[in-house]
Amino acid sequence: MSKYWSDVVHKLTPYVPGEQPKINNLVKLNTNENPYGPSPKVIEALKLEAAETLRLYPDPNSDVLRAAIAKVHHLDSCQVFVGNGSDEVLAHVFQALLKHAQPLLFPDITYSFYPVYCGLYGIRYETIPLAEDFSIRVEDYIKPNGGIIFPNPNAPTGMPLALEKIEWILQNNTESVVVIDEAYVDFGTESAVSLINQYPNLLVTHTLSKARSLAGLRVGYALGSAALIEALIRVKDSFNSYPIDRFASAGAVAAMQDIDYFEETCQKVITTRDALVANMSALDFEVLPSGANFIFAKHKVRDGAELSAKLREHGIIVRHFKSPSRIAPYLRITIGTDEQSELLLKALKVVLSEKSFS
Ligand SMILES: Cc1ncc(COP(=O)(O)O)c(C=O)c1O
Repeated sequence: MSKYWSDVVHKLTPYVPGEQPKINNLVKLNTNENPYGPSPKVIEALKLEAAETLRLYPDPNSDVLRAAIAKVHHLDSCQVFVGNGSDEVLAHVFQALLKHAQPLLFPDITYSFYPVYCGLYGIRYETIPLAEDFSIRVEDYIKPNGGIIFPNPNAPTGMPLALEKIEWILQNNTESVVVIDEAYVDFGTESAVSLINQYPNLLVTHTLSKARSLAGLRVGYALGSAALIEALIRVKDSFNSYPIDRFASAGAVAAMQDIDYFEETCQKVITTRDALVANMSALDFEVLPSGANFIFAKHKVRDGAELSAKLREHGIIVRHFKSPSRIAPYLRITIGTDEQSELLLKALKVVLSEKSFS
């Protein structure tokens, strides 16, 4: 606290990202990064970019990157917005499209950055409880609102929502923007991008941090009608004209173009996930259906916080959320390599054979 702080800063409750440990040799399954490196073509492109041209500003419009993204999604470049990670894209979305007189709606259990942006931009919001089985009940979103946002698959549950249900929301909610945050969509969830040309109020956000294994490069994007994209560009150009630097652009373009590598690594993650779900179920875990590169699982008798602490003693870090209390028994576990899954299962067997403290 300081007398020099503005009122806004006094009232902020900042987002707390998952731990990035300084110790090597940990099995890091806590922040949903990809266990495989980015495409070798990305590394080549980055090396070429380390050149004298770094003295020049990058393209403020990121034309080459937007064209590469548009091509992958069969859209026009004017339907693509890019930013420094999808967190930055989302920040602009909240300010440009979701701040209205009526409250913004999002699930009570979801990406915990959403209420943080509301605090930063002074946006009224209302949380809509997930059903008992943690699914999103689309009927609950049909009420006066200043916008709707949720991830598909949802985070931290990993549960996918069928495309017909998203379309049903769009058909019944034409007066405000519906944002589908598809950070994890490439791991087996159906994308809403196919609906963009039919619904001018649909905005879909993606990231290169997960399926394209570039969390360290910080690139995310939004896809939607040209009018929605123009709003985001207006906010960006009132904030930072160059969110995509020369490295980010070169690396992201190469990643978008290497479709074979992208598909191959996503499939590897999905195969490892499905095997892990079966093996954890055999250890008495209840695992929610996942369309993501992580699973959300609770043990039938053992406590989530204790399991997370015990796994850490075995050099394995997973994510545990203390609140809301409904998710406290759960662990969110990122899908790693097959070898990392084996280490996790081995550690779990030891931990579960020990007496519980709780
Ligand atoms: C649901 C969801 N959306 C968006 C993001 C932000 O991703 P990034 O800023 O790395 O693009 C995350 C990150 O974990 C996420 O879980």
